[in-house]
Amino acid sequence: MAVLSSLRGLVLMGLAATTALAEPRVLHMPITRNANHPGPLAKRASPSNTAQVTVVNDISYGLYYVNATVGTPGQELSLVLDTGSSDVWFFGPGAYDPKKSSSYKLLNKGDFEIQYGTEGSDVQGDYISDTISFGGATVKQATMAVAYQVAQVPTGIMGIGFDTNEAIVAEGGQPYKSIIDRMVAEGVISTKAYSLWLNDLFSSDGNCLFGGYDTKKFSGNLLSVPIQPDAQSGQLTSMTVAWTSLSLNTGSSTKSITPSNFAEPALLDSGTTLSIIPEQLYDELHSFFEAQDDESGNAIVDCGTLDKADGTLDFQFGGSKGPVIKVPFSEFALPATTTIGTWAQFDDGSYMCVLGMQPQTESDPIILGDTFLRSAYVVYDLDNKQISLAQTIFNATDSNVVEISKTSPVASVVTGVVVTQTASAGSGGVVPGEGGSGATTGGSSFPTETAVASATNSLGDISDVPTSTATSSSGGGSGAGATVHVPGLLLSLQAAGLSTLIGGALVALL
Ligand SMILES: *[C@@H]1O[C@H](CO)[C@@H](O)[C@H](O)[C@H]1NC(C)=O
Ligand SMILES: *[C@@H]1O[C@H](CO)[C@@H](O)[C@H](O)[C@H]1NC(C)=O
Repeated sequence: MAVLSSLRGLVLMGLAATTALAEPRVLHMPITRNANHPGPLAKRASPSNTAQVTVVNDISYGLYYVNATVGTPGQELSLVLDTGSSDVWFFGPGAYDPKKSSSYKLLNKGDFEIQYGTEGSDVQGDYISDTISFGGATVKQATMAVAYQVAQVPTGIMGIGFDTNEAIVAEGGQPYKSIIDRMVAEGVISTKAYSLWLNDLFSSDGNCLFGGYDTKKFSGNLLSVPIQPDAQSGQLTSMTVAWTSLSLNTGSSTKSITPSNFAEPALLDSGTTLSIIPEQLYDELHSFFEAQDDESGNAIVDCGTLDKADGTLDFQFGGSKGPVIKVPFSEFALPATTTIGTWAQFDDGSYMCVLGMQPQTESDPIILGDTFLRSAYVVYDLDNKQISLAQTIFNATDSNVVEISKTSPVASVVTGVVVTQTASAGSGGVVPGEGGSGATTGGSSFPTETAVASATNSLGDISDVPTSTATSSSGGGSGAGATVHVPGLLLSLQAAGLSTLIGGALVALL
């Protein structure tokens, strides 16, 4: 994974926090993405031979950052918001200097160590306690880590998963109070729950709402499915749900491409940029989208073709009554940039995109990362042990925030489908970065064959799709439960910048 040099370009800005009112408590965190994507206007005379153009996977379309300040006085940091891990850590001096914080306390020197899904990643440092503020909220004496040795991880991370997934647990230790636990303990929010609205691929803002959800950011009803346990421990350790069908919807017709008994544990992980799906499904979609692999294993597609097709991939969870999320084809087309920062093109001038999914390999969990998550409004309710999903409304501007409490969960659980998460590899998870060595920086060279690809794709011909099982496309269900209107506090996230270029690397922070 490349070092995100662009992070230095981030400037912390005042957060639009409304005054905290007494009750109930919700913390609202806007996410901003770097809108600085390579659009057609960025097009330049491409190098004389298009075939020599190097494409790099551009992760500016994934990974979401939160602005935070740590210490007293506050030191400004940008951290990746990660539902797939549970520790908060940041780089030491240069980013955070403990000596400059009067509220810093050393807890355990040298004891913090974590690896993430990205190959070769490793972070080591000290457990500390200090004050952290984000979105207008302040959490004192939060247990975090300051890193002194970091490999293959671009920036500090705010892990917001279960405390059972803290790095210390993998090493035989007892969990400490996670940042979410501390937020509840300090009365910032009243329940361990948060909602993520990542918004559209090309939009510059989205948000994370702690303690509540926003009824104006999704259509239809939120439907809940139980969070699934880890097979070994039987405990809830990850944001795993039962994924029970995938349908290919071309606008005019819909076909399921999963067998009727399909039920797989799938991690909803904001810290993974792509989606990792079973190989067979991947192969079908790869051919449906007429993708071609470059030598690093990136599946390259014609952006225009995916953009024009009205189709969606419809993911259903928790069985036939569960939530269905329709992901527009275009959300799976991530612009491929050249090493000089322009948008890579085929010989005929059409634009190249990287298909935003990868095949699962044996030990990988299935991960529905940012390419899936942007189309969903997702409420992660750790207290009620459920995840609620609804179709997102891209670019929604209205807001109506509702608090979640133990006694008023979002919606009742719609399903009994149970799967267990068997794929796991210690605290950090496994490496989904196959076919491109997660550690590559700077880009991969693009093979001639791929660059001369034809531009005559014809998405929409559903007969191209091998398997077919009748689909049950139910989307209805019971309405949302709680309807308490509450004031919100705003907190922000931001996506990585354009200069973050990685060759064939999938950024995965499990
Ligand atoms: C984070 O801080 C940077 C620098 O001020 C700012 O540009 C960005 O908009 C902030 N992000 C959010 C989500 O507030
Ligand atoms: C949302 O806004 C972005 C830019 O602000 C735009 O590119 C995108 O097409 C919009 N999405 C939808 C679905 O309208």
